Amino acid sequence: MDLRIQENCENIDWNIIRDYLKLVGMGYHKPELHQKAFLNSFSVVFIFDHERLIGFGRAISDGAYQAAIYDVVVIPEYQKQGIGRLITERILQRISNCNIMLYANLGREEFYAKLGFRLMKTAMAKYLRPEIMKEKGFIQ
Ligand SMILES: CC(C)(COP(=O)(O)OP(=O)(O)OC[C@H]1O[C@@H](n2cnc3c(N)ncnc32)[C@H](O)[C@@H]1OP(=O)(O)O)[C@@H](O)C(=O)NCCC(=O)NCCS
Repeated sequence: MDLRIQENCENIDWNIIRDYLKLVGMGYHKPELHQKAFLNSFSVVFIFDHERLIGFGRAISDGAYQAAIYDVVVIPEYQKQGIGRLITERILQRISNCNIMLYANLGREEFYAKLGFRLMKTAMAKYLRPEIMKEKGFIQ
């Protein structure tokens, strides 16, 4: 692998971001909306192998003491090779002064547990489409 880590949004093809989110079964939107989300994020990480985008992630934060991680993706053929850890650890470096929340896709809890995350007992969420999130098993 010839990995390159990019921590800004320069020259990102937002259609690919949408396609990868869709590919791995995560929530996806119009490319312009992903562009807005990443541009407005506190920390962004994109990983390339030989200049092909293979994974990404981002965090929002107040820059002081609270942060949340979203949209962590490694494309299937590159999974289980340490790329997800690399992305998340790089994001964590920029928010090391913060309490950090995220909601894990079902089945990914162990991945985040290995990075030091613990299950929350009182997390509450107000989703735009609660019936779908209930169906997916995110809320009661
Ligand atoms: C979850 C995801 C980002 C993990 O990326 P990855 O590159 O495969 O993970 P890594 O190879 O860096 O794994 C780091 C550690 O977590 C473990 N791990 C990774 N995925 C796991 C899973 N689904 N279940 C349990 N453990 C997992 C690895 O075995 C590894 O353990 P080790 O350090 O003891 O060897 C990737 O599988 C993915 O993009 N999945 C689809 C999208 C998704 O669910 N994203 C998370 C949204 S919450």
